[in-house]
Amino acid sequence: MRRFHTSLAVWITLLIGLKFSLVCDAGNGKSISGGGGPSGAVAHASTASVGPTFTKDVASILYRNCVGCHRPGEIAPMSLLDYVTVRPWAKAIQVAVLSRKMPPWFADPKFGVFANDPRLSDQEISTITAWVDGGSLEGDPQDLPLKPTFTEGWKLGKPDIVIDIGQDFAVRPGNDAYEYFTVPTNFTEGKWIRAAQILPGNRQAVHHVHVSLVMDNPGSTDSITTAFRQPSGPLWEVKDGLSRVRLDAPVMNDACAGERPDLANLSGFEEGSFAAMLPGKPPDVFGDSTPKWIPAGAKLRFQIHYAKVDKPQTDRTRVGLYLASRSPERPMRRLDLRNRYFLIPAGVENHEVRRCYDFETDKLLVSITPHMHYRGKDARYELVRPDGRRETLLFVSPYNFNWQLLYRFRDPVYVEKGSRMIVTFHYDNSPNHAGNPDPKQVVRWGDRSEDEMMTSWIEYLDAAPSSLSGDTLTEAAKR
Ligand code: HEC
Repeated sequence: MRRFHTSLAVWITLLIGLKFSLVCDAGNGKSISGGGGPSGAVAHASTASVGPTFTKDVASILYRNCVGCHRPGEIAPMSLLDYVTVRPWAKAIQVAVLSRKMPPWFADPKFGVFANDPRLSDQEISTITAWVDGGSLEGDPQDLPLKPTFTEGWKLGKPDIVIDIGQDFAVRPGNDAYEYFTVPTNFTEGKWIRAAQILPGNRQAVHHVHVSLVMDNPGSTDSITTAFRQPSGPLWEVKDGLSRVRLDAPVMNDACAGERPDLANLSGFEEGSFAAMLPGKPPDVFGDSTPKWIPAGAKLRFQIHYAKVDKPQTDRTRVGLYLASRSPERPMRRLDLRNRYFLIPAGVENHEVRRCYDFETDKLLVSITPHMHYRGKDARYELVRPDGRRETLLFVSPYNFNWQLLYRFRDPVYVEKGSRMIVTFHYDNSPNHAGNPDPKQVVRWGDRSEDEMMTSWIEYLDAAPSSLSGDTLTEAAKR
């Protein structure tokens, strides 16, 4: 994935060149009357013009929907803050918004309504389209709305508490590596946390991070989740701290088909990590009225995936914690569902892997994050109610490894005990799948991006049916 970023830089440089020439050649003549270069194309609408202009109509759309990523120092290739940097991209922007390639979002609109759905309205798309067709004019500088302001680094402002990995860690060049750091919180009393952001010390080296809670008294329900422990045993092989399921381990592509006592964690759920940093994922926001709990004496365990780097580097990754203002009516929790025992044959185009979960108590589902690697194709979440009604909560299609998005329901989904969730993922291991590192490989579960995963992180609240309060629901939905 970091490899994606490094090669992305090269790629983007090429792309910018390419796009630029496309815009200049194919862009309509009206707009480029002033000269060839992007800055030469600045055209003021001096006459009371028809059509939308950048300053009056388009800038506000870009500020609201694009500049979170499209500004200097952020993940997107070009800044969309100023007319001079936007203008050469006008045609590409039109194509990207018409095709809904941008802003990135992969939930099939036929299923579910999501609070963080970033898709543009038809009105916004037609404004941009009309602006580009009308010559991408700048308009009157007086009309330009105030530029949005940003805090660099901490996206939610200054955290109340910052805890780092406790050392300047030396990242060795060569292979990907998983490293684990356990550090004390030194909390003498427990704390409610409304949000958490993991900030890599070295953006080039850090690919992704999970932070879990660990307690010293083993056996306590607070001790670490199995999910973020290094797996061991005869079904696993470990190299450079990276583990994978052995090629000859038993196979179970459809974990809904029944129990397998020899294969762990194919039913029930695993407790999720506390917070995570993944490519493209915003900070974890649990909400002031539905925060997460860190008990007194807890330790934080950082699991850091360091990408392959060419030169020695150092890293000191931190997590910033934001305190909730009060104890909650009910805390945010996370249940993780995994099937680690699939096997994807070489070359297949649509390999299906399933995992089910039978609800043993009532719950309110707040968000779902599917996770696969390069060969991920689509992810479907269905619910079968006790009375047999079946509905799709979320269908992510196509899945895109470069965008590890979280889908937060506008209204948390109430699920009664006795319901079954059916999670169905498809993998494309054919040569046609862009980004498939090697269609000749048989692929199983593993940490490396070239291996695969079948994971779902699901945020939820416990829901005793009688205690549903409108406040909690509204708050959870607002975030
Ligand atoms: C969540 C971050 C994010 C948001 C929000 C976002 N972009 Fe992007 N955009 C990217 C990244 C990263 C790339 C480069 C990689 C890619 O193309 O996927 C990109 C690429 C592009 C490209 C080049 C596409 C191409 O075909 O090569 C255009 C044009 C673009 N974005 C326009 C927009 C517009 C317009 C908006 C708002 C309506 C927007 N983006 C919102 C992150 C974002």
